[in-house]
Amino acid sequence: MPQPPYRKPAHGRRRESTPAQARPPVPGKGWDNVASWYDKLVGDNGSDYHQHVILPAAVRLLQLQPSERVLDMCCGQGVLAPLVTTAGAEYVGVDASPKLIESARERIKHPKARFLISDVTKPAKWADGSFDAAACLMAVHDVENLEPMFLNLADSLSPGGRALLIFMHPCFRIPRQSHWGWDEERKIQYRRLDRYGQPMAIPIQTHPGLASTLHTQFYHRPLAGYLNELGAVGLGVVGCEELYSHRRSQAGPKSRGEHRAAEEFPLFLALLAVKPAESFVEIGDEV
Ligand SMILES: C[S@@+](CC[C@H](N)C(=O)[O-])C[C@H]1O[C@@H](n2cnc3c(N)ncnc32)[C@H](O)[C@@H]1O
Repeated sequence: MPQPPYRKPAHGRRRESTPAQARPPVPGKGWDNVASWYDKLVGDNGSDYHQHVILPAAVRLLQLQPSERVLDMCCGQGVLAPLVTTAGAEYVGVDASPKLIESARERIKHPKARFLISDVTKPAKWADGSFDAAACLMAVHDVENLEPMFLNLADSLSPGGRALLIFMHPCFRIPRQSHWGWDEERKIQYRRLDRYGQPMAIPIQTHPGLASTLHTQFYHRPLAGYLNELGAVGLGVVGCEELYSHRRSQAGPKSRGEHRAAEEFPLFLALLAVKPAESFVEIGDEV
């Protein structure tokens, strides 16, 4: 019988890695290479998708309260920070790119906002159990090795703390491996998936069309990969939203089919997980 690509990890904390396959070399220093491009793309208020889809979902799902502490993992140039401080909460953003952190510090000068240069996959002082909530927006697929990142995520939260991941929907949006197609007979736009079930490292050109080799690396993994890694660090998924693009094509002969497809195939996936307030007693444990 064929084996599923992901075996469910044994429940409990682990430190071994499950790297994605194939690693094309990333020139230079990862996101620092493309920091000015990304900073411009996101700007002061977030990209189009941040403004219309991602940030409203983050606010709705995190339900931040004044006096809470919030960690933003892979914060980039700090697009989430103003929403956290506006809610009256304290914000700590961490990111591996010194240039993006510099940009965040220049953009956001709020007494309750702090930014740290830190690789989220390495042991970190901020993973200290003091956060009521943690978010990671549009970045889990930029991290090759989820396990140490999720261990830090779990360690950063206080008991009962919640974690929100929003990322490209792994079932429908796989760079280079998922595409739109048009069925002329049925007048429908369909989504074609060429690959899904195996982890993949996919280079993303940040300046397509230009003679530039700048790229970031996208790590695709099937949905089970995310859910099982969360479970393995003791975070339980309590909420899930599939987020759709707000963009619609212009009027034309295909627009009905295109609008229908935009409402049928989600763009992003939001997972809300919780760190249990009390540790589980495993079945079979003596009590
Ligand atoms: C697409 S950007 C998203 C940034 C921000 N959350 C947003 O929504 O604008 C991905 C970010 O992940 C960061 N990143 C990737 N790998 C990382 C790692 N191992 N540790 C910390 N940050 C990392 C990059 O530096 C980059 O800022």
